[in-house]
Amino acid sequence: MLLSVENLIVKYGNILALHGISFHVNSGEIVTLIGANGAGKTTSLYSICRLPPPEAPRVVAGDIKFQGESLLKTRPNEVVSRLKMALVPEGRHIFGNLTVMENLELATYSREKGAQLSEDYARVFDLFPRLSERRKQRSESLSGGEQQMLAVGRALMTGCQVLLLDEPSMGLAPRLKYELFRTLKQLNEQGMTILLVEQNANLALHLAHRGYVLDTGTIAASGTSEDLLGNPDVKKAYLGG
Ligand SMILES: Nc1ncnc2c1ncn2[C@@H]1O[C@H](COP(=O)(O)OP(=O)(O)O)[C@@H](O)[C@H]1O
Ligand SMILES: [Mg+2]
Repeated sequence: MLLSVENLIVKYGNILALHGISFHVNSGEIVTLIGANGAGKTTSLYSICRLPPPEAPRVVAGDIKFQGESLLKTRPNEVVSRLKMALVPEGRHIFGNLTVMENLELATYSREKGAQLSEDYARVFDLFPRLSERRKQRSESLSGGEQQMLAVGRALMTGCQVLLLDEPSMGLAPRLKYELFRTLKQLNEQGMTILLVEQNANLALHLAHRGYVLDTGTIAASGTSEDLLGNPDVKKAYLGG
């Protein structure tokens, strides 16, 4: 087991956001957390990334482990540089006044000298040829789909082996959603472990190997994607009947 969240209870101030949830991700898997707005999906990712307050919720009980090691005392930069996990945040958070290339370069600062940067740039531009064409453009001039590609590309430039994505399909036209999800599949086939948070349950379950349904801070269902796609309760609540 690569990453495990164990009976995690998390609060913002006095507000209980996660009520004691458990889930895990094996190396090489695509696992999805699906659920409605406010279910606790972003909170789960922020807890794993060890983001500092005020964004970060406070862990009250339970644990988060990476290869068996507790992350409760791990610093956020260590999550990226040592554990090789990178977050693609909801809303992308790219620097609009910087070029595509500059946004990608920013992600490499935490890396060791002599890291395989040129290979990683080549991989990003191979996965996202449109970023290559636009590498000298200011990022604010990119379309929403291209900005999402840049957000994924930037995470890849940290040299990550685990990709955490928060609602990457949000705001994208259907064609671009499918294109992005095909790229995620390709990355996974190259060995990337993926934890994908999505409101678009249908899309997420067609990509992922396994999934967990989050409902107001609890796990309401879990299983293989096939099981969840066939589960009548999941169908009714999350898959449009
Ligand atoms: N910074 C915050 N301060 C207080 N409550 C928050 C904060 N962020 C999220 N919450 C609450 O925590 C719960 C889970 O939110 P969140 O993880 O953002 O859900 P999701 O990503 O599934 O939409 C919600 O009830 C939300 O209102
Ligand atoms: Mg969210």
